[in-house]
This record gives sequence, C-alpha cells and structure tokens, in this order.
Amino acid sequence: MQSWTPFSWRRHKALQLPAYPDAQGLQGAEARLSSLAPLIFPGEITQLKERLASVARGEAFLLQGGDCAESFDEVGQMPVESTFRVILQMAVVLTYAAACPVIKVGRIAGQFAKPRSSETETVGGVTLPSYRGDIINGAEFNAAARAPDPQRLLTAYSHSAATLNLLRALAQGGFADLHRVHGWTADFVRRSPQGEKFEELAGRITQSLAFMEACGFDAARAPQLHAVEFYTSHEALHLHYEEALTRLDEQTGRAYGASAHMLWLGERTRVIEGAHVEYLRGIDNVIGIKLGPSAAPADVLALLDRLDPDQQPGRIVLIARMGSGKIHEALPPLLRAVRDAGRKPVWCCDPMHGNTVTSSNGYKTRDFGRILDEVRGFFAAHAKEGTYPGGLHFELTGQDVTECRGGAQALGDDALAERYRTACDPRLNGSQSLELAFLIAGVLASARSGKGARTLPD
Ligand code: TRP
Ligand code: MN
Repeated sequence: MQSWTPFSWRRHKALQLPAYPDAQGLQGAEARLSSLAPLIFPGEITQLKERLASVARGEAFLLQGGDCAESFDEVGQMPVESTFRVILQMAVVLTYAAACPVIKVGRIAGQFAKPRSSETETVGGVTLPSYRGDIINGAEFNAAARAPDPQRLLTAYSHSAATLNLLRALAQGGFADLHRVHGWTADFVRRSPQGEKFEELAGRITQSLAFMEACGFDAARAPQLHAVEFYTSHEALHLHYEEALTRLDEQTGRAYGASAHMLWLGERTRVIEGAHVEYLRGIDNVIGIKLGPSAAPADVLALLDRLDPDQQPGRIVLIARMGSGKIHEALPPLLRAVRDAGRKPVWCCDPMHGNTVTSSNGYKTRDFGRILDEVRGFFAAHAKEGTYPGGLHFELTGQDVTECRGGAQALGDDALAERYRTACDPRLNGSQSLELAFLIAGVLASARSGKGARTLPD
C-alpha cells in the first residue's frame, strides 16, 4: 500500500464530494483553514479512546446524538444548549438505571456535510445541484444558493468553533453539575409525563447527594459531580475540509483530524479503496463506521484491517443502522464475524437511518415505535451472540419540533407540518428523546443486571 499523507486520498475515487466551479476560491479557503487553530487537541482523543475502551470491555455505555445536519442559520445559545441539555437528561437516566458510566458524544460542532442519493434535484422542470449541507451549498431552490461555495468551508469552521466553545462552557462551567439536575428540563417537556418522571428521578438524585453530604462526603472535593466530559463527532464526508484541518501531534509524530474527537465513515462512502477510507486510515481519531443491512462480514473485516491494523482499544465504533425489520437478520452474522476475528470494537446502534419513511402528506419522517424496535433488536442480537451492546446513536434536538411520529405525544401525519424544521432528516424532539431514554433504561438495566442496575420510578 502506498504511504499515507493528509492528501493521499486525492489519488482515490471520492464519492459524494462537490465539483467546485471556483477552483481558485477552493484553494484559498483550504490554505486559510490550514493556518487556523485546531478545534480539539490530541490528548482529548486519547481520553475518549480510553473511555471507549471501557465501553468495549462492557464497563460503560456510549450515547451519541445531535442534529442530522447543523445549519448556519441556527445561531446563539438556544439550539446548542437545548441539544446539550437533552443529552444530559438521557445520560443521567441511563447512568442511574443501569448504574453504568455513560460516555457523551454530540453529533455537533462540525456536522455540516450530507451525502445525497442523487446529484441533482428537479422541481417544476428546473434541475439544480442537490443540497449537500451548509458547508457546501444553500438549501434554497435557486441556482445561486445551490452552487458549491468554498467560502462556506470557513463559515463551517467558525460556526464549529463557536459551538464548541459554548459546549465546553456548558460541560465544565457549572450547568452540567448534578446539583442542577432539576434545571435541565425544557419548559415544553416539564408538564408532560416524561417531564414529571424526570422530576421524580431528579428528586432521587438530589436526595442521594444530600444524604452523602450529610454523611460527611465533601461534594466540593468531587469534581466529577460538577462537570461532564463531552466529545464531538461528525461524518468525515468533506475531505477538503478534513485535510485542511489535519494537524501533527508533536508528542507522537502522528497526524490527527483537528475538526472533532470522533469522525465517522458513512454507509455510502465506506468503499475499501475509496478516498474516505484512505483519509481516515491515517489519522489518530476515534473512527466510527456506519453499517447498513447490505454490509457483508468480509466488508467489515476488511475495513477493520484497513482502519485499525494494530487493534487499538477504543479506536473503532461500529454503528449498525439496519432498520427495525432487518436488524434481526443482518446484525448477528456481523457480530459473529467480528467476534471470531478477535476484534473488540464498540458496537453502537443507530436506529434512525434505517427507519425513514414518507408520511401521507409528503414529509420525511420516522416512527417512534420503529426506532424503539430497532434498539430492542440490537440488544436482543447481542444477548444471543454473547457480545456487548455498547451504545446508541440518535438524531435529536432538545427543541419542540414535530418531525418524528408517535411517542407519548402521539404525533401523527397532520402534526408534522406544525414545526418541521430540520435541514435534512427528521429528529426526535426533546420529549421523545427523554421518553426513549426511559424506555431504553429498562432494557439496558436488564442487559447489565447483576452489575448494580436500579429500577426507575414508573
Ligand atoms: N461526571 C459524571 C458523568 O459524567 C457525573 C455527572 C455530572 C453527570 N453531571 C452529569 C452524569 C450529567 C450525567 C449527566 O457521568
Ligand atoms: Mn441523517
């Protein structure tokens, strides 16, 4: 195999990348990005790998979530904070029920590029390039917006830097303190059954803390109560962007992607000789691999050999996105092949992308029940094969959107039009996300029973 450089992917076939009409503008943007500060540091990647190695050993659980696609129009504190608080809520529910540490990873601060099934879109006889995410072009249906614009690479960097700055403050600056667990519920969730259930759990946690403190435990000296580790991730789709943000770790002499802690390889770009695999094999980050129902055991093993030749603990997260109807057939052969090859990746379930349907009134949507079914199928497959179900990957927002059907709110087709705001795929809203966490908590607790799992209030 030829040697790797940050640009060796350019010798390989690159799917899903835009053709920029303005080649000079692209080079200028890449040069500028190369000169900017890294968004994350290599020591943080090492820490995430240690955390994920503990997940792979069955000692912790991974929770990954955020928008399908972030948008340049979502600015200010609210969108980021609302996603962060719902991830905190889900994490606390799972941590409590399963008595198991939860590693928190956002699909955030860089999730801007989208793979598309068609190069173009035709509306009313007019054909334009497809929308590929705000890092590439605009969603509006006109020729100017749809032309790939290299300046967007720089906007994506600035937007990511601002988002990450806020996330670091929220994670470390007091907001995530367990003593403030009552403050994480969004107003629209507070009065719902999920909100009430969460209040009850929050009450138990507050009581436990007060009890421990009355016994002489000094909370001020326990930094782990006051902050969380929060990591970022996105799909490594836009290789011009990732290449320009590749940096050298002075300590190890190895390259790392400085755009996020974890980068994943998409279902559409996991071609073994393709450009995306070539780029990812050379960087030191945590690598996710999305696996759809067509992934063959041999494909998965070839990807593991290419992306993780030295079997580094915590390096790989395999993210199965099979669909609720297919997971029972499609996942077990992969679990067996990977196990029998002596590999120990984290196994994660994305119950969103295999369950997308079109509603009677034309919205791209997903059913809460199908999502839950796929999660149950994931746990069942692992129970059968004796492997560990290590994590979940969701498209969600803390906001009160109406994009997925079902759940306790019983959103139907008619409700979708009310607040359908996603830039791409339908997300669980704050209430649906919390409801799902409560339902999954039971499944996780029984999968881990005997390891200190607790029952939750009904
Ligand atoms: N730091 C611990 C953890 O991340 C405990 C904790 C603090 C926590 N704030 C939290 C857990 C918010 C979940 C949610 O697990
Ligand atoms: Mn999506």
